[in-house]
Amino acid sequence: MQTLALKNVSYAYEKGKTVLSDISTELETGKMYAILGPSGSGKTTLLSLLGGLDTPRQGSILFDGTDIAETGLEHHRRNHISLIFQSYNLIDYMTPVENVLLTAKVDAVPILERLGLTRDEITRNVLKLSGGQQQRVAIARALASDTPVILADEPTGNLDADTAEEIIAVLKESAHAFEKCVIVVTHSSEVAAQADVVLEIKRGHLKVREM
Ligand SMILES: Nc1ncnc2c1ncn2[C@@H]1O[C@H](COP(=O)(O)OP(=O)(O)O)[C@@H](O)[C@H]1O
Ligand SMILES: [Mg+2]
Repeated sequence: MQTLALKNVSYAYEKGKTVLSDISTELETGKMYAILGPSGSGKTTLLSLLGGLDTPRQGSILFDGTDIAETGLEHHRRNHISLIFQSYNLIDYMTPVENVLLTAKVDAVPILERLGLTRDEITRNVLKLSGGQQQRVAIARALASDTPVILADEPTGNLDADTAEEIIAVLKESAHAFEKCVIVVTHSSEVAAQADVVLEIKRGHLKVREM
């Protein structure tokens, strides 16, 4: 079991007020976490620190006990992290299979099928898929790249409520079946309620709730 940990992490943007204040917690593979909070509470900031896209002002981010600033942020991003966005970020002139093969270390087709795409859909141009199916392709790409951590920033923000629920279920099943640490940012308490653990940001502090 691998872990990602925040150790006394504080963060403020240049000239900005403190966004995160002395946060410490551990995140394990095999679980889905939700980072919950209203707009502007620091969810994306927290995700970018965990993903090695930015560095804390104070404190450290550890992967398997080692400070990612020591091993190198680029090493952390390349070997440990996959990102999923609200806007899917697929290459739009390619099919699902081609998109997944961009980063795949394993066969793309079984993963796409397991995530609920049909044989026909996986060889269609991605723009001819619904939003929900496009997000499944983005999840498949993250799974196929074989990193232990998947970070998703508002992955259901463009989807209707039913599709959003399906996508969150797919992410949760991915955490459990593929032994991934899945961290989903959301402002929706309904989405968060499906997670194994909810990390709620309140005035820069983190409230941890096991579900
Ligand atoms: N690049 C930036 N420069 C200055 N302030 C920023 C920047 N990005 C975000 N902020 C501010 O930091 C706070 C947290 O932002 P963010 O992490 O994006 O929140 P969330 O994702 O929860 O909506 C907000 O007050 C936001 O305005
Ligand atoms: Mg955000």
